[in-house]
Amino acid sequence: MILIDRMREDIQAVFDRDPAARTTLEVVLTYSGLHAIWFHRIAHFLWQHDVKLLGRIVSAFSRFLTGIEIHPGARIGRRLFIDHGTGVVIGETSEIGDDVLIYQGVTLGGTSLRKEKRHPTIEDQVMVSAGAAVIGPVRIGRGSRIGAGAVVVSSAPPYSTIVGIPGKVIEGESTRQDIVTLDHAHLPDPVARAINGLVEKLNQLGVRLEEIEERQDCLDDKLVPPEPPSNGAVAKEPAE
Ligand SMILES: CC(C)(COP(=O)(O)OP(=O)(O)OC[C@H]1O[C@@H](n2cnc3c(N)ncnc32)[C@H](O)[C@@H]1OP(=O)(O)O)[C@@H](O)C(=O)NCCC(=O)NCCS
Repeated sequence: MILIDRMREDIQAVFDRDPAARTTLEVVLTYSGLHAIWFHRIAHFLWQHDVKLLGRIVSAFSRFLTGIEIHPGARIGRRLFIDHGTGVVIGETSEIGDDVLIYQGVTLGGTSLRKEKRHPTIEDQVMVSAGAAVIGPVRIGRGSRIGAGAVVVSSAPPYSTIVGIPGKVIEGESTRQDIVTLDHAHLPDPVARAINGLVEKLNQLGVRLEEIEERQDCLDDKLVPPEPPSNGAVAKEPAE
């Protein structure tokens, strides 16, 4: 019964997050993300009950059918929706909370070769956009959004928006209060801010250099020796 309820909420998650979904039959028959999660539940059950080889076989079969590779050891919460799905890879020690949305081409990958926690932890209600890679045992706080193509290598607090390579938080809980008065379409960009800082510093250095050059010109003018007098008289040394 629980199994049926879980399947129902998985299907509902598709309707909630994909405006292209039309009928339940269509969703059940054609959404490979849904198939991958259902296969993963079987594979994970086998993995946990020490039937590891069979778990791997189910996972490999699922990858063959769906193009989505989820290691049977990965812990996945409720209502995960993998949209489109092709090329998604979820590593062995990944942990995914509830109501997470993952698009095609996402990698939740490891960096260490040791048998330890080496894959990301994705908290509830996170969105991982197309082609993003989250690498290493980092933690992405609840409600965060990872931009398309981002490569995230460090943890992010809840409600962050992370974009770029390496992934930078352009909006987070710490900036929430400011955002009330900010234009949401123009959130601060930390890279642009750093570049602007450098340009400002360069301008200051330019002004300073011009001042130094002017002083140098004045000194040079003072040090020019006086012209010798034309009538042959000996020029007087300038007074000290
Ligand atoms: C990250 C994301 C969720 C942010 O959306 P948003 O809150 O509407 O943000 P905005 O579009 O206003 O962009 C805010 C800033 O981040 C930048 N930005 C947004 N997405 C980016 C990305 N993927 N990579 C790099 N920079 C990005 C914008 O250029 C903008 O910078 P600026 O302030 O210097 O102009 C969204 O841009 C995104 O990547 N969505 C992908 C969804 C997806 O994968 N869909 C696939 C469906 S098949």
